[in-house]
Amino acid sequence: TEFDLVIRNGKIATAADVMNCDIGIHQGQIVALAAELPKGTQEIDATDKLVLPGGVDAHCHMDQPMNDGSVMADDFYTGTLSALCGGTTTVIPFACQMKGHSLAKAVEDYHQRATDKAVIDYAFHLIVTDPTPHVLDEELPKLIAKGYTSFKVYMTYDDLKLSDRALLDVLAVARQEGAFVMVHAENSDCIAWMVQRLAQLGKISPRYHATARPQVVEREATHRAIALAELVDVPILIVHVSGAEAVEQIQWAQNRGLRIYAETCPQYLFLTEADLDQPGFEGAKCICSPPPRDKANQQVIWDGLCNGVFQVISSDHAPFRYAHPQGKQICGTHGSFQYVPNGIPGIETRLPLLFSEGVNQGRIDLNTFVALTATNPAKLYGLYPQKGTIAIGSDADLVIWDTQRQVTIANEMLHHNVDYTPYEGIALQGYPEITISRGEIVYQHGEVIAQKGRGKFLSCGLSSFARPRQRGKAVPCP
Ligand code: URP
Ligand code: ZN
Ligand code: ZN
Ligand code: ZN
Repeated sequence: TEFDLVIRNGKIATAADVMNCDIGIHQGQIVALAAELPKGTQEIDATDKLVLPGGVDAHCHMDQPMNDGSVMADDFYTGTLSALCGGTTTVIPFACQMKGHSLAKAVEDYHQRATDKAVIDYAFHLIVTDPTPHVLDEELPKLIAKGYTSFKVYMTYDDLKLSDRALLDVLAVARQEGAFVMVHAENSDCIAWMVQRLAQLGKISPRYHATARPQVVEREATHRAIALAELVDVPILIVHVSGAEAVEQIQWAQNRGLRIYAETCPQYLFLTEADLDQPGFEGAKCICSPPPRDKANQQVIWDGLCNGVFQVISSDHAPFRYAHPQGKQICGTHGSFQYVPNGIPGIETRLPLLFSEGVNQGRIDLNTFVALTATNPAKLYGLYPQKGTIAIGSDADLVIWDTQRQVTIANEMLHHNVDYTPYEGIALQGYPEITISRGEIVYQHGEVIAQKGRGKFLSCGLSSFARPRQRGKAVPCP
């Protein structure tokens, strides 16, 4: 065998195993795992280093056109560059249908945005906002067959949300075609009602974003999404779960034997609603939906990462600049939280935060870290075993971690195009030293070596997680 690259003497961890051996890479794939492999064309000495599968960020937004006039700061170049510097080698952003428009056209448009820019491999989830008969019967089945096998649906946001009836229609198509549905679960009317009352009282500063979205709003929608999925007999995944009350609903469903899966994000482990209460309008930097909760809820999320409630941690990277007329201050310095684009940046900090506070602090073990950040998202969305693990035949997407390195997060060291990070000043131990994508060193000791546009589109297979409980039985609501 000849090797283009050999990584020597590292400690390798997957979702299942920890092993000390060399990794032989040929034509972008892992072809050998053994002690003392013969010399490769290129060699990396990983003595005292940890070698992990590259992260799979299964929920991130880049270059997504917004209806409210806000503009995402990261395109597919800066977004994927930022990802790889933080140890992520695969991203699954969204191709969002605009109401009244074709979903298939949206997918074409996003391909244009990504193709000459992405520096790591990417797939797309669809966002279904307008499930007309044409979309349900023609576009979705065709897109699923072409490798867009997962879609997100929203229960809130006027320009995105679906009625329960429309949700059922989309769930039925997913069941029929074997696709996997991600649900943004918040009660839209509750939020609108709260926002209006707060506005009448003049309560418009960023902290009231959290006041307008108490946990009951998320809990109710989570329960309703679970009920709709049960009616159709199709699994779903609840995205960006923020705290104890939604967790309780998910656990209740899982205990009933329903196939309900869940994702959380670093913001629900590292931020609290107090971060929205800053001088001036600064709290807008931490406005995301659902909002961060409190310390007790952070603990519930940590617990859920160990006890199996959650299968995946994604960044939900939503890059809006703070000091930009089309960014977080879209409403002006004295405007209302209700016009602030929702979501926070975090594609580069996801893995380092989780590694330091999770693995180093003993909250999750190394295998669980790999499972939550790489292997499970690859499995959930039909990219495994090409992505998400270290195995013979898998793509050589690898990260060599310096577990000793001390880093204090500062926005100036990050590679996204956002002018702040909500995690400024957090001290970490352990950081990616080298990132390898399909056998190519794309990042090394703080230097990016990735050629713009080298990232490839990944067509996703059908997820085994999407299988209904009653195999073979017709969709209850055809
Ligand atoms: O506030 C959030 N999470 N914004 C990003 C879009 C979404 O709903 O995931
Ligand atoms: Zn060769
Ligand atoms: Zn969402
Ligand atoms: Zn999102």
